[in-house]
Amino acid sequence: MTQPKPPIAMLAELTHRCPLSCPYCSNPVEMARQDSELATQDWIRVFREAADLGVLQLHLSGGEPASRRDLEELVAAARDAGLYTNLITSGIGLSERRLRALDAAGLDHVQLSLQGTTPEMADEIGGYTGGFKRKMQVADWIGQIGFPLTLNAVLHRRNLHQLPRAIEMAVEMGARRIEVATVQFHGWALKNRDALMPTREQAAEATRIVTEARQALKGTLVIDYVPADYHSDYPKRCMGGWGSTGLNVTPEGLVLPCHAAQTITHLTFQSVRDASLSGIWHDGPAFNAYRGTDWMPEPCASCERKTVDFGGCRCQAMALVGDASATDPVCVKSPHHVDLQARAEAHAAAEAPLVYRTAPGRRVEEPAQ
Ligand code: SF4
Ligand code: FES
Repeated sequence: MTQPKPPIAMLAELTHRCPLSCPYCSNPVEMARQDSELATQDWIRVFREAADLGVLQLHLSGGEPASRRDLEELVAAARDAGLYTNLITSGIGLSERRLRALDAAGLDHVQLSLQGTTPEMADEIGGYTGGFKRKMQVADWIGQIGFPLTLNAVLHRRNLHQLPRAIEMAVEMGARRIEVATVQFHGWALKNRDALMPTREQAAEATRIVTEARQALKGTLVIDYVPADYHSDYPKRCMGGWGSTGLNVTPEGLVLPCHAAQTITHLTFQSVRDASLSGIWHDGPAFNAYRGTDWMPEPCASCERKTVDFGGCRCQAMALVGDASATDPVCVKSPHHVDLQARAEAHAAAEAPLVYRTAPGRRVEEPAQ
């Protein structure tokens, strides 16, 4: 096999701890405990190894990365290693003082999540009373400090009608980009398909709104769009192709080809505690399992789109048909496609309460300064 190109991006899941309880959380059902998280010096070593491997962009994520008290130190170390740093945050846990410290440490970019465009919606979905108000305050500070901002709106049956307002808010906040991501059903979110699955009509309406807004806001706002894939005819090019452009490191140091890879239970994942990032990227069995196109069965193997979408999402194939090497059932050529569409309609028609990650209803506390 030819050597893979270096990854462009690394997602560092610094912690699974999070003040919010979002039902659409894509983190694993079993979360890493705080005492199993990599220590500051481990992460710093991993950042240096990532830069040496060729990684350009570091996404600091969680859980809520601000739950790590060493976040400023980690950002400074990542910048020293030459990485472009992006903080993916709910904003809860960030004070103005902390944001200014992150700025001083060299943080390049902030990606702020949006659970809804009203306090009622956002606090209900996040399971955190007062969270929306705090987030708007954090957005103001981000603007004052001058961080480049991306707004990240996760949309589903309950809040898709707020999409036009979410786009307006991104413009008002001075964001350069908004990620309009229809909920993906990985990890915890799988428990909430009956509560969150959008209807086919909602999915089509979202596509129309995004198409029009892209046209109207050309030069002002970039809109990245993840459509409702259960209602689509072709799957997404998940991770740009397995083991091709990015890698994830979990809070306890496992290196994954994608966020949900641990749901593919026959794969073996290596840890940064035992092996180098370069060795894992180039030779790790999990990374080579679905790299390129040689592993593909039919219909992907002879399909003209096989280097367009790489057969879709391995984790989705695993979750929906129990075989990670199967064609993603979102694809019209999959023998499971018709069944999936029927299931999507059934989920969209179902009534179910939200299943939160942790008990909802907590109130905002002032973050640590
Ligand atoms: Fe993509 Fe496979 Fe479907 Fe072709 S058959 S479009 S490669 S998922
Ligand atoms: Fe794992 Fe798509 S989430 S391959």
